[in-house]
Amino acid sequence: MAKLSSKTVITLNSGVKIPQLGFGVYLSPPEVTTKTVTTALEAGYRHIDSAQWYFNEEQVGAAVKDNSIPRSEIFITTKLGHADKVVERLNESVTKIDPTSGGYVDLFLIHAPTAGPENRPKQWKALEDLVEQGKAKAIGVSNYGVKHLQEMEKYAQIPPAVNQIELHPWCQQPAIVAYCQSHNIALEAYSPMVQGKKANDPTLTKIAEETGKSWAQVLIRWSLQRGFIPLPKSDTKERIISNMEVFDFELSDAQMDALNALDQDEHVCLNPTGCS
Ligand SMILES: NC(=O)c1ccc[n+]([C@@H]2O[C@H](COP(=O)([O-])OP(=O)(O)OC[C@H]3O[C@@H](n4cnc5c(N)ncnc54)[C@H](OP(=O)(O)O)[C@@H]3O)[C@@H](O)[C@H]2O)c1
Repeated sequence: MAKLSSKTVITLNSGVKIPQLGFGVYLSPPEVTTKTVTTALEAGYRHIDSAQWYFNEEQVGAAVKDNSIPRSEIFITTKLGHADKVVERLNESVTKIDPTSGGYVDLFLIHAPTAGPENRPKQWKALEDLVEQGKAKAIGVSNYGVKHLQEMEKYAQIPPAVNQIELHPWCQQPAIVAYCQSHNIALEAYSPMVQGKKANDPTLTKIAEETGKSWAQVLIRWSLQRGFIPLPKSDTKERIISNMEVFDFELSDAQMDALNALDQDEHVCLNPTGCS
């Protein structure tokens, strides 16, 4: 395995490079998001994951704008949440995230396939137009099941660069992962720390002891070693920093196998991958 570092990037099928370790802001209250993202940037994260449904795109944009790090060195994702007023909502997001003239988002995703089979192609066409206009560098989907991805083969002019799904040892979604890997669609791992719900799991605790790292660091490292793009979230400075300290150790094959054996299709988030 190539040595991973905080600067490791994955090249998406569109040619765009995405930092492998991301930073999520779901449930980051808007009044703290700017501070949180500023702390994350200072800690070394260069990839922020927001969404219209998180109601904090503007605060992410403020942290990036008021920072001395060039915009071109920060990768920002947001997600389309609705099936109505799509073009208007996409443009609103771009302005919130990057209010400069010529503003853009690095990756725009459809948040979930819930808009239904008639609306999904329309949402995607609007995202393709955004790429054409230079307002999105790459586009992708989230919570798409194999059926939704196969459907896209019929209507997508630009293939999705990414599918962002719940991924951690207890929820490994092997069919979706296999489809994405065989079609060169990068996998972003949401809830990579299982929202803290497995902190006391015996296998995880044992590996944390063996490696001298925290359970959270072990889970983030597992995700990186599987080739996923994990998006750990925290509003707590110490955790933001420690969740980045995952490049000074490696999980052995035996430790990866032990974590890989924990899959039980257990979701901590709503799972729309099977919706019609
Ligand atoms: N596309 C989708 O549908 C979707 C769905 C869910 C999530 N996501 C994305 O994925 C990101 C991460 O997922 P998530 O927020 O559900 O879950 P997560 O990152 O697995 O867990 C976040 C929770 O863990 C706590 N935490 C963080 N670091 C910790 C540490 N070192 N020790 C103990 N607790 C720690 C956080 O608390 P504090 O903040 O209080 O520190 C927060 O409560 C989201 O922010 C979002 O960007 C996407």
